[in-house]
Formats: sequence, structure tokens, C-alpha cells
Amino acid sequence: MVPKSISLTHLKAIFFLALSLPALWLGWQWVLLLGAHPHNLGVNPVEMTNRFLGDTALRVLLITLAITPLRDLTGYAPLSRLRRMAGLFAFFYVCLHLTSYLGLDLFFNLAKLWKDIVKRTYITLGMSAFALLVPLALTSTRGALQRLGPRRWARLHSLIYPAAILAVVHHVFMAKGFQIMPLVHGAILFFLLGWRLVKWQRKNAAQKGNRISNNS
Ligand code: HEM
Repeated sequence: MVPKSISLTHLKAIFFLALSLPALWLGWQWVLLLGAHPHNLGVNPVEMTNRFLGDTALRVLLITLAITPLRDLTGYAPLSRLRRMAGLFAFFYVCLHLTSYLGLDLFFNLAKLWKDIVKRTYITLGMSAFALLVPLALTSTRGALQRLGPRRWARLHSLIYPAAILAVVHHVFMAKGFQIMPLVHGAILFFLLGWRLVKWQRKNAAQKGNRISNNS
């Protein structure tokens, strides 16, 4: 339960800080590494960085999708006001993940990136998820909402669902051998999408019921 005494401004500040922590931690580890101090990036810091950013991007995406069910469960409406920040943070971590791959792994060789997109299924999936998230980030402003109108804006922003599915499948495809985390992420996404489906079905049934009683 969120205590009622916490104002939305405080909640936003706490949330912002919490979502910044992974980037701050990673940045600090690179400062230690470059200064030849002991760090926590293991023997392959490039791989560790890319994987850490991928994991963080996916988890923040799932947190974004968890806000509505959490609001429904707690009845605390201001939680909805955190969705945009969470979505933008997810996009921020996806961009860092892509940049770390492109920069640290491929040394910004775009021809190699294209070859990977065509040849490696998990890169195709990751890139497709990224492509779906771009229009959402670009239209996350109040101005874009007004220009598109609430219905079209909501329809466009439902791209977050296929993007999250593609991101989870990307994780499943890149995992070598049996790994539990892709399944955990998949199960969480299944629950979050299932929640929305049940809610949507109930709403439809209620509207149908209202129409029948209005006509009779
Ligand atoms: C919504 C977009 C994306 C999400 C949420 C995402 C998420 C993830 C996750 C969770 C992992 C596994 C990390 C681990 O094993 O701990 C991963 C790995 C990886 N992703 Fe992504 N990813 C996305 C897009 C991309 C894109 C666009 C690329 C590159 C074009 C990419 C390249 C990679 C690579 C190279 C790995 C590591 C493979 C390895 O180390 O063997 N991802 N990603």
C-alpha cells in the first residue's frame, strides 16, 4: 500500500531515483574499471555491461506494464502518473543496451549490425522491439497526446505489448541452454497481459449488459 501522506511529487522523485540507480551503479563500475580499481564487472566487462543493460531494460519495461494492475489493486490512482516516466526509463535503458552492443561489441560498424539483424534471430527480435518503442518515446509528450487525440494515442501506445513480447522472446532466443530468467520474465509478462485481457473482457461484457438493459 502507498501511504496517502506521500505526495505525487515525492513519489515521482523516489521513483526517478530508483530507476536511475542501475545506470549510476554501472557508470560507477566503469569509473572503477578505467581507474584500474577493483570493480564488479567480472572478467568480460563488455558482455556484463550489455547483459546488465538488457536485463534492466526488460525489467523496467515490465515495471511500466505492472503500474496499471498495481493501481487497480491498491486503488491509488496517482500511480498512473508514473507510467510515462517508467516507459521513458525503459527506452533509455534499451538505447544504452543497443549503444553498448553497437559501440563496445561492433565498434560502431553499421554493416556488421545489419549483418547481425539479418542473420541472428535474437538480434532481429531485439531490433524489432526497439523499433516499436521508438514511436512511443517520440509521442510521450503532452503535445503529442493533444495532436493525436486520446484514442489514436492510446492505440499507438498499445505497441508496448508486442514490444514487450518481442523483448521477452529476444531474451529466450539469446539464452544458451536452459536458463530460468527468460522464463521468469515470460511468466511475469504473461500475468501482466492476462490481467489486461480479463479486465477488457469484463468491461466488454458490462457494456453489452448495459446496452441490452437500455434497449429493453
Ligand atoms: C526492447 C528491446 C530490448 C530488450 C528489452 C532487450 C533485453 C535483453 C535481455 C534481457 C538480454 C539478456 C541479458 C542476460 O542474459 O542477462 C539481452 C541480451 C542481448 N541483447 Fe537485447 N534487448 C533489446 C534489444 C536489443 C537490441 C536492439 C540489440 C542489438 C541490436 C540487442 C542485443 C543484445 C545482445 C547482443 C545481447 C547479449 C547476447 C550475449 O551476450 O550472448 N538487444 N537483451
